[in-house]
Amino acid sequence: MRTFLKTLAIISGSLLLSGITLAQTIVLNKPNLEREGNLMKALSQRASAREFDSTPLSLRDLSDLLWAANGVNRAESGKRTAPSAINAQDVDVYLFDSEGVYLYNAQKHTLILVLSGDLRKIISNQDKDPYPSVILLLVSDISKFTRGEDTLKREWGAMDVAFVAQNVLLFCSSVGMEARPRAFMNKEQIIETLKLNNTQLPMLNIPVSYKKN
Ligand SMILES: Cc1cc2nc3c(=O)[nH]c(=O)nc-3n(C[C@H](O)[C@H](O)[C@H](O)COP(=O)(O)O)c2cc1C
Repeated sequence: MRTFLKTLAIISGSLLLSGITLAQTIVLNKPNLEREGNLMKALSQRASAREFDSTPLSLRDLSDLLWAANGVNRAESGKRTAPSAINAQDVDVYLFDSEGVYLYNAQKHTLILVLSGDLRKIISNQDKDPYPSVILLLVSDISKFTRGEDTLKREWGAMDVAFVAQNVLLFCSSVGMEARPRAFMNKEQIIETLKLNNTQLPMLNIPVSYKKN
């Protein structure tokens, strides 16, 4: 990702760590709505991968992946590619790659740097070096639900995350990329590292990569 960080990212500030300056904000490409892909074919090919490549994703693919996941598809209302209970838009998508952890800002279609450094290893013991190119972490912030008991909010959060996950899986199968939804992860370490509060619930993580040669 370093090349596009250097060439295409808008730097609204910078962080110096280990000698590497990372963009605080990465402006993603507009979604390519003409992209090749066929829903029935994507459904027929969807499968959870076991092996992942570690080649960095291009900005084009990263942009479309995040937009497909939970981007804004109706500018006039700010609504998303994934539905959410009472339109709470409670699902946050974090992206872990070799350089840092980013939070997807759907309204601006940007990635905001949260932490620098390769933190892919903290997600799951299932991953070994070389790590999958990116790992998406889907977090439901149940404080966004303005009504309902806690149990109901957790149910809604889980359902909303599943819609985002399915968007990711179908995008990946339609463009020939690998993905796997995973509920098992080192939640305590993730919560501590990202400083999540008790309404922000990590529900699923999804490694994504190109097909391994
Ligand atoms: C809610 C959910 C949680 C899952 N958690 C994990 C997981 O923690 N680790 C893993 O390797 N696979 C996980 N999977 C993937 C399933 O094992 C996989 O979907 C299942 O074996 C069926 O295979 P398929 O997706 O290729 O059809 C999960 C799937 C779902 C839907």
